[in-house]
Amino acid sequence: MLIFVLKTGIQLFDLEKFDLKLGTDIIGRNFIYTHEIPSTNTELLNNPEYYKTHGSVLLAEKQISGRGRKDRNWHSNEYMNLTFSILISSPKYLKRNINLINYAASLSTAISIENLYQLHTELKWPNDILINSKKVAGILTESISQGDTISRLVIGIGLNVNQISFQGKYTIPPTSLKTELGHIAVREKILAEVLNVFEENLESGLNPHNKILEEWKSRCNMLGERITVHVGEMSKQGIFHDIDANGFLVLRTNDKFETMHLGDVQIS
Ligand code: BTN
Repeated sequence: MLIFVLKTGIQLFDLEKFDLKLGTDIIGRNFIYTHEIPSTNTELLNNPEYYKTHGSVLLAEKQISGRGRKDRNWHSNEYMNLTFSILISSPKYLKRNINLINYAASLSTAISIENLYQLHTELKWPNDILINSKKVAGILTESISQGDTISRLVIGIGLNVNQISFQGKYTIPPTSLKTELGHIAVREKILAEVLNVFEENLESGLNPHNKILEEWKSRCNMLGERITVHVGEMSKQGIFHDIDANGFLVLRTNDKFETMHLGDVQIS
């Protein structure tokens, strides 16, 4: 097999290798690989005339303004990691609770890492993937609505694969698969596995007795713990009681139950 390696030692994403591992029917079958873009989420979300196909995946080596949750930036070194977005535009999925799609994405990322590398992962509400309490991947799900109806949903995933040093300030210390494994991880294999597992979970999410939330919760160590939830300037303490059927965090404070829709959580 011929692997194209640039003179600097940089390795491009090998589309053939990826294709051999991709076992999906729909997700990732329309695959766009680009070098540089402002943000894969913004691109898929704001150009409906250009990106129509449900399940399209856009992978970029470099995002000029990669975005994280709560208006944070997402930094990722080119050629080392995976920064990609998946377009969900079929009404079949958008008619349902879209929070479930969000949970399916983080769960699928965690399962894929475990399947391929036997690394123990942990999920942190709302959708961070941790290894040894450090963040290996984050997810930003965004949507566009027309009236009351969501017309497109974009799931953006940033997964640290082979980057081993991280500059800047982070709310959770970052890590990568290479750091945790002690050797290089294969981006093509990982992306294909994430998409394979995600497609399965997306389909099973249509089934009313699906186990997505249960599986998600079983990987969330903070459940049952005393936590602080930060929402903007406000913070609230209580016991992380549950995640309800809508996907919201249920916080128990002095025998009262409060539902939190967003925020950052930490053990208090
Ligand atoms: C977070 O943990 O705050 C979410 C990070 C999400 C980053 C990904 S990278 C691909 C996609 N494009 C973006 O601009 N953001 C998401």
